[in-house]
Amino acid sequence: MNVGIIGTGLLGSAIARRIATEHKVHVYNRTRSKAELLKKSGIQVEDSPMALAKKCDIIITIVKDAQAIEEISFGKNGIIHGKHDSLIVADMSTISPISSRKIAKKFSDNGISMIDTPVMGGPSFAEKGQMVLMVGGKKETYQKCKQVLDLIGEKTFHLGENGAGHAMKLAMNSQIAILALSISEGIILAKKSGLDPMTFLEVLNSTYFKTGMSVNKGPKMAKGQFEPSFFLKMMQKDLDEIDYTAKEFGANMPMSKIANQIYKKAINEGLGEMDYTAILAHLEQSN
Ligand SMILES: NC(=O)c1ccc[n+]([C@@H]2O[C@H](COP(=O)([O-])OP(=O)(O)OC[C@H]3O[C@@H](n4cnc5c(N)ncnc54)[C@H](OP(=O)(O)O)[C@@H]3O)[C@@H](O)[C@H]2O)c1
Repeated sequence: MNVGIIGTGLLGSAIARRIATEHKVHVYNRTRSKAELLKKSGIQVEDSPMALAKKCDIIITIVKDAQAIEEISFGKNGIIHGKHDSLIVADMSTISPISSRKIAKKFSDNGISMIDTPVMGGPSFAEKGQMVLMVGGKKETYQKCKQVLDLIGEKTFHLGENGAGHAMKLAMNSQIAILALSISEGIILAKKSGLDPMTFLEVLNSTYFKTGMSVNKGPKMAKGQFEPSFFLKMMQKDLDEIDYTAKEFGANMPMSKIANQIYKKAINEGLGEMDYTAILAHLEQSN
């Protein structure tokens, strides 16, 4: 199969490399230099989303937000200008289900089927094929992409119509944002009490309340290592999407609202390009 990836940032690059182990992969990125790095994995760089669409059966979009998807899809030299009968778009960016439904409708009006396929797990999970996928959209469209998506996902949930995947993804990301804050506060209290933060993690990870984050990210946080796998600025972008979606759907989510304010302050302090767990570094500055 010819698979297109649009957006070769942290996640898109890892997904492109993984899919290239079994399929011919074509990539497009707004900043071409990032896409060029993938050539050594046998991946072909295309000049525009249109050029990529003409050569591909499935396009996976992994860009920042809904505005970016609009640009690469419907803008000048966008995906729709390279449309052909068998083309399918799977959007893996994290956006609100409301925007996703609007985008799916625009694709459908242009004769292209779109599903939403947001993911849980960062680049290292993508490289090992261990992500969890949440799918919204027609089941038969998903079935046509299944062989490719199964390469990156160890478990996939088909959740309903367009937008259902993104609604679930936002419910997941509220967990991530709040959990990073919770572990950070635990580390801070342990330190202030004269305890070793690594011992705090050892105790936490011996209990029912341990998480993948406290096991895998916790020790790096305690050592002040914030090499990004998921930028803090992206986490804050997702909190904006959560606030918007909660408001539209009538969900009261005060913790996510407060979390958003804290992540915004961290960005103002220049931490946006660090891993989202650098929220600890922000909290430590006021201690
Ligand atoms: N990293 C993770 O662990 C993870 C996990 C799940 C979901 N996600 C989601 O996946 C998406 C990508 O995240 P990432 O971590 O790969 O972030 P990233 O490294 O910052 O990459 C962002 C990508 O979006 C592109 N982009 C931004 N604005 C654009 C625009 N207006 N037009 C065209 N392209 C644009 C960027 O192109 P340039 O290179 O030109 O800036 C880049 O390719 C986000 O929606 C994120 O929330 C990430």
